[in-house]
Amino acid sequence: MSLPSRLPAILQAVMKGQPRALADSHYPHWHHAPVTGLMNDPNGFVEFAGRYHLFYQWNPLACDHKFKCWGHWSSADLLHWQHEPIALMPDEEYDRNGCYSGSAVDSQGTLTLCYTGNVKFDDGSRTAWQCLATENTDGTFTKLGPVLPLPEGYTGHVRDPKVWQHEGRWYMVLGAQDLQKRGKVLLFSSADLHEWTSQGEIAGYDINGLDDAGYMWECPDLFALGDQHILICCPQGVPREKERYLNTYPAVWMSGDFDYHRAAFKHGELHELDAGFEFYAPQTMQASDGRRLLVGWMGVPDGEEMLQPTLANGWIHQMTCLRELEFIDGQLWQRPLRELTALRGEAHSWQDSALPLKPMEISLETARGDALRIDFGGSLTLERDANGIRLARRSLAKDETHYRYWRGEVRSLRIFIDQSSVEIFINDGEGVMSSRYFPDYPAQLVLSGITPEAFCYWPLRRCMVE
Ligand code: FRU
Repeated sequence: MSLPSRLPAILQAVMKGQPRALADSHYPHWHHAPVTGLMNDPNGFVEFAGRYHLFYQWNPLACDHKFKCWGHWSSADLLHWQHEPIALMPDEEYDRNGCYSGSAVDSQGTLTLCYTGNVKFDDGSRTAWQCLATENTDGTFTKLGPVLPLPEGYTGHVRDPKVWQHEGRWYMVLGAQDLQKRGKVLLFSSADLHEWTSQGEIAGYDINGLDDAGYMWECPDLFALGDQHILICCPQGVPREKERYLNTYPAVWMSGDFDYHRAAFKHGELHELDAGFEFYAPQTMQASDGRRLLVGWMGVPDGEEMLQPTLANGWIHQMTCLRELEFIDGQLWQRPLRELTALRGEAHSWQDSALPLKPMEISLETARGDALRIDFGGSLTLERDANGIRLARRSLAKDETHYRYWRGEVRSLRIFIDQSSVEIFINDGEGVMSSRYFPDYPAQLVLSGITPEAFCYWPLRRCMVE
């Protein structure tokens, strides 16, 4: 039985909320953000019938983690995006507490969504259904209902189906928590997306020698890259280290050999995907030109998110810029999407020690060992020394400064600035640090330790979702 429609309330929220969000000086000029309410994970990132689609976890009704819908944007060129009809709303018994994260596939010419129907009970427990929905000719989606109930041996935390096809068969990885409260990645396979067979656990606590690997693994994504397979996922509960895993929850990658016949993934150690303050729940897709593209949520749950100043204007969070992945010599490289260069205005060289802070791309060659400091509007600082990079940011909750680190030799930086985000690509993609920051405008970018010949910047054009 369907639940009462919340469409009138959603429409009103968007009509009232969008003007306020767009007038906020922290609203991005060229990143994806919700027109009102809360946005979190990217979902259903796919190229289908000549267009790119990016869906997203969205509560249009409030800046909280309830009433999760799937919003939908599409694009012909990965740069200019347009709003599409809201794809999924939690209006069935099997998804009544949220249409949670998932993926999209081309199933016999139909754009098909695979998502988690999240159901919470009064006693605090929950269950999860893996569900399908298919696109209609008018861009709306029809739910086909659940295709997989909660597998035996796991708590109600089983979610975030990432589905792909290999040699004519469908495969799905799911994030899960077993009954001992240990995080796992489950593999299923299917001939038709409807009947699924368990292939067992492929990663997580106590697998491949991983101990102390956390209590829940969210948002897994498994794909071939170069001659390896990469598993990306978000292991909640991995112990904090002095300079790693400092966010409430991390996003990690591991590489190895995935054997479809044995349904086994032999992988190496975990690496943090992004060393900045905000990065979570990334998802990748294979573009038809062969590129493996990634987008992440530039947010982290359960930290200081609810203290971000944009809440006062009725919206919260944004996506990262799109990235291109490559696997070279045991290292996952992430480079900014090459199409982003089309947003560049005229190139400028550097003369003074300060610039007006606005959306821009900075390119910087750093001679070995140079001490370098960039102050982003008094809200975030980058310090580079012989050991690498340290980012500093004031806590929104307490009178203290928080730090994030990237360790290694820094040869070059490409920094992408938007109204409330900074993405730092180190050594052409060897490392990335993504962070939100909330300067009071007009603000300044203050630089020291820079060699002018090795520095250049481009203002970035606005590129809003239409
Ligand atoms: C990750 C996550 C997913 C879940 C979704 C709900 O941020 O917790 O595991 O599907 O968000 O919005």
